[in-house]
Amino acid sequence: MDKLAIRGGKRLQGEIRISGAKNAALPILCASLLTGEPLYLDNLPRLNDISTTLTLLGHIGVQIALDERGGVELHGAALTRLEAPYSLVKTMRASILVLGPMLARCGEARVSLPGGCAIGSRPVDLHIKGLQAMGAQIDIEHGYILARAGRLRGARIFMDTVTVTGTENLMMAATLASGTTILENAAREPEVVDLADCLIAMGADIRGAGSDTITIQGVERLHAAHYRIMPDRIESGTYLVAAAMTGGAITLRDSCPQALDAVIEKLREAGAVIHCDHDSIDLTAPARLRAVNLRTAPYPAFPTDMQAQFMALNATAEGVGRVTETIFENRFMHVQEMRRLGAQIEIEGNTALVRGVEHLQGATVMATDLRASASLVLAALVAEGETVIERIYHIDRGYECIEEKLNQLGASVRRIH
Ligand code: UD1
Repeated sequence: MDKLAIRGGKRLQGEIRISGAKNAALPILCASLLTGEPLYLDNLPRLNDISTTLTLLGHIGVQIALDERGGVELHGAALTRLEAPYSLVKTMRASILVLGPMLARCGEARVSLPGGCAIGSRPVDLHIKGLQAMGAQIDIEHGYILARAGRLRGARIFMDTVTVTGTENLMMAATLASGTTILENAAREPEVVDLADCLIAMGADIRGAGSDTITIQGVERLHAAHYRIMPDRIESGTYLVAAAMTGGAITLRDSCPQALDAVIEKLREAGAVIHCDHDSIDLTAPARLRAVNLRTAPYPAFPTDMQAQFMALNATAEGVGRVTETIFENRFMHVQEMRRLGAQIEIEGNTALVRGVEHLQGATVMATDLRASASLVLAALVAEGETVIERIYHIDRGYECIEEKLNQLGASVRRIH
């Protein structure tokens, strides 16, 4: 298994390009199941989660042609196996996103239930309830969700918890249902809007994406489209925090500042100076940041996917920062590992109190999930000496060419095979 060896203490400076958004690409790839015509996508990030999704779509019968410019053509003319097997779903929960499209287009789907997950129990009950409200018959057998329906029917669906992939699954299913579907308490994340924009390009009738009420008027069929995936806001946020922690000065190109308000606001509060253009972000940071308090919540509030990175920021900032996680239980697994680098963090329930120290020290640590791993990379960038991060396959699920991009900014990062 690959490891990353990082020698800390380098100030990050320069410019990098931000990749396409993983969490927008995953549902958009699954949208190819909704039509028998080709869907061409630009700006597809090259990540393990994307390869897993392409393997899953190939298993279902979608013809896939990747090109060298970061594009992919998906052609689901004939879907031959309407199932998502356990072997693929267990490595990536987002595989559940094939359920709505397969059921809506083919009237049938068999999808493995996602198992336990490192960051909490993460059920899929709201996906299932929503599809049932649209007329699907759903049984759970031998660890699989078996869904059947004639044509789905539009329905008013209220979700009592804001769920990103739940909203996406139901929105995709509703595009081909008869009549109108109204999703209430829908997720407002930019990736939901990106999926809606792609579906609209394919001929869907969707209004209100980006608000908490999304109205979908079902159509008979969707058609071919060409769509460019939005930039990754979490990758952007992670590099901004990296540069800020090292007292650096960087520019992100092809980014999406408008989707990063909460993160940019916190970085400014910590002392960074940030200027945004429509698709680029400049950050300059002082030698030492101030610790910040934050609380994760659904968009447009502070994203849970940036919580661990800000914990790393607080670990060497001046003062004490209070970090409260409200979306996922058990999302503090990076804390144990950060303590091995010398961070002073106390946990009380879903809140972590981080007391900034002058210096962290390099050590061997283990990546536990995607964003937790990113926080260890950030801590390593400012730690004295060398940090070795094991099990970095977690990082490769969500960060394209992380060592190349960091080295381009002047860091010293080595991949050990
Ligand atoms: C998505 C993102 C993930 C991000 C998360 C929250 C993708 C591929 N992943 O995950 O990176 O951290 O949003 O912003 O886009 N819940 C239920 N019942 C359900 C579904 C969810 O109770 O049926 C709960 C979850 O346990 C959690 C909360 O709702 O407490 C939010 O989860 P959800 O938004 O569904 O996360 P994902 O869509 O899996």
